[in-house]
Amino acid sequence: MLKSIGLTIVIIFSYTIATFAGEGMWLPLLLKAYNEEEMQSMGMKMSAEDIYSVNQGSLKDAIVHFGGFCTSEVISDQGLLLTNHHCGYGQIQSHSTLENNYLKDGFWAMSQDAELANPGLFAKFIDRIIDVSDIVLEGTADATTDAARQDMIKNNIAAYQTTAQLKSYEEIEVKPFFNTNQYFAFVTVTYNDVRLVGAPPESIGKFGADTDNWEWPRHTGDFALFRIYAGPDNMPADYDEANKPYTPKHHLPISLDGVAEGDFTLIFGFPGRTDQYLPSNAVEQILEDINPARIAVRENTLDIVGKAMREDSSVKLKYASKFASIANYWKKWIGESQGLVQTNALAKKEAFESELVSRDPETKNILDQFNRYYSERQPYAKSNAIYGEVTGRNIELMRVAGLSKRLINTFEMHGEEGYNGFYARLKPFLTDLYKNYDAEVDKKVFASLLELYRTNMSDDYLPSDLKSNLSSLANTVYGQSILTDGGKLFAALDKGPEAAKAALSRDKGYALYSAISDKYNDIAAEPYSMINGKIDSLQRLYMKAQMDAFPDKNFYPDANSTMRVTYGQVNGYQPKDGVWYDPVTHLDGVVAKYVPGDYEFDVPAKLLELYEDKDYGQYTTSEGKIPVCFLGSNHTTGGNSGSPAIDANGNLIGLNFDRVWEGTMSDINYDKSICRNIMVDARYILFIVDKFAGATHLVDEMELVHPKAGLGSQVSDNTVNGASAGATCNGESCCASGDAADCCCCKRRLFKRRCCKNKS
Ligand code: ARG
Ligand code: GLU
Repeated sequence: MLKSIGLTIVIIFSYTIATFAGEGMWLPLLLKAYNEEEMQSMGMKMSAEDIYSVNQGSLKDAIVHFGGFCTSEVISDQGLLLTNHHCGYGQIQSHSTLENNYLKDGFWAMSQDAELANPGLFAKFIDRIIDVSDIVLEGTADATTDAARQDMIKNNIAAYQTTAQLKSYEEIEVKPFFNTNQYFAFVTVTYNDVRLVGAPPESIGKFGADTDNWEWPRHTGDFALFRIYAGPDNMPADYDEANKPYTPKHHLPISLDGVAEGDFTLIFGFPGRTDQYLPSNAVEQILEDINPARIAVRENTLDIVGKAMREDSSVKLKYASKFASIANYWKKWIGESQGLVQTNALAKKEAFESELVSRDPETKNILDQFNRYYSERQPYAKSNAIYGEVTGRNIELMRVAGLSKRLINTFEMHGEEGYNGFYARLKPFLTDLYKNYDAEVDKKVFASLLELYRTNMSDDYLPSDLKSNLSSLANTVYGQSILTDGGKLFAALDKGPEAAKAALSRDKGYALYSAISDKYNDIAAEPYSMINGKIDSLQRLYMKAQMDAFPDKNFYPDANSTMRVTYGQVNGYQPKDGVWYDPVTHLDGVVAKYVPGDYEFDVPAKLLELYEDKDYGQYTTSEGKIPVCFLGSNHTTGGNSGSPAIDANGNLIGLNFDRVWEGTMSDINYDKSICRNIMVDARYILFIVDKFAGATHLVDEMELVHPKAGLGSQVSDNTVNGASAGATCNGESCCASGDAADCCCCKRRLFKRRCCKNKS
């Protein structure tokens, strides 16, 4: 059915290979070669060198990998960091108590000594990126097997890392690109003292919560502020009260001029994972098997937990964050599947494959093998999705059992030291989990999901217990297992590996988990990973075939949590026939959505007051409104949360935090017509910090500019302003020596206000 629709569509939409402006997550060091011209044609005033340079200050020096899972950016010369509220959520929560509930009420450090330390949180800069493909792949052309090739690569990387010339505080990571066809090395500098500076209340930072998540029109002020602290030499140092705010190589000036439809936007950050180059069989499997399975499991959980939350306000409090996190990807996958269908992704993939075969008949062989492997994988893919969601995520007792089992396995492989190391990392995670745990709720999820498991998994996956009465099984397990009670579990695990092992081996919940996972592993683990191994090696050849067949196309590598630049424009979109979405929202929309006391749509009284009084300061649009969010056609994904949205001149205009629902399939098939990223307008952030929180000292340390008025941080294209001796440049005195022969142009370059010698 899908295939025949596909063929019709191919005829209607003739296939095009051109990469849309907007599509792509580009490596910063290749912008000059691949993108600079296009970026400038879209309105960018900077050069590629302004964005990424190894020799001089550039935008990339302000971009920070936040805790390894989000992006953040430096916005003052005192190491002030901007990221999303949902990226700092764990930290804000960990500093909160019932009396000082920073999630509910917000938090603002009114001086630097009130900023709060966050053990374990790090801020990682990229110093330089090096193409190491030739070094890493040396000799691999002669490898006769995949295993031999992988071994060579591993050895080459290890050898390279020992010879890399690093400073004492630098580290180096080598990462594969284009399915191991290329390799790049990243030299990083990591700061471990990162303190919480400010966060709005959830009724701003998470306004609209799950109902508005992945949706437009959006009105969320999803931001939080942190600060990097450094040792006396400005170098990384472990937390110490005496550490000093970090002086960055570059910080982003913040534009007060806002955005208009069509404006150039650049997003700089660390996107996590995408799969843009899959064959049609893989996309079909995601659509037909994997997404439906994951969605169905989560739907069950959300029904049960949602009902319990509505019935009991203490459950509502406990499960708010867990519910949000399960709902987040549940909703994303639904949008992804719908978007794949709506944009005819399968038909486009198939058309691309025909075109590929016509250019290079050999690829037919690759595609035939894919066809075989993906059909072999089909039953495993579905079981894997259900197994993973049920035991690894949705039933908390199973999730804890699985982690406990890993702990015991670690002991068996690495002895007591291994146990202690893993336990030290596991305990805080489990403490959080149990802090917000309700065994009665989990028990209901357990009964419902094991029923689903029994119905959807073939008989041979089911241990005998699952063939019995599930509600009496639930009674036994939740009546007896120590896994239903964090206190009891920690008491057992604290006693050390042998005692923990003995206690777990007697436990009903642990035994049930083991029976389910043993069955799964016996049947599926080996064949599934073998097929995946074959698919991975084939994907490398397929990737190369795609690149070879279209030598004139610029390919961008899939996201892999490395630093990328994506660029597009401020653009609305048409979500469906007859509906057009404007690309900007305003405070009026916040007030329109306001539901007093609601846990998603409440609005702080202070914000309503500011709205009533129109007490907006300098943060309004030309119509005198407070802007809240805006849309762009930038290609982003998870991990781009907290990424700066940067204007044509290198100033911050917004903060990325989400995508629109119709376009979440951009991880697999970007389509300019409906793929949009969602950003908070920088002026809303400033308005909240300044007018709502009264944290004016923070605004004072930022550099606010009016690029559209030709003031402040403007790119000067390296033109010489021809100042004479004694002139000043943005308030700094220039050519102080007064020696005309040695005198300088007063050059307001993008990244450094500096006087430089006039070469003429
Ligand atoms: N959808 C955004 C991102 O993937 C924001 C998620 C946080 N908000 C929430 N309501 N769960 O991750
Ligand atoms: N909210 C996502 C994140 O946490 C970004 C949204 C997306 O997936 O594009 O990274």
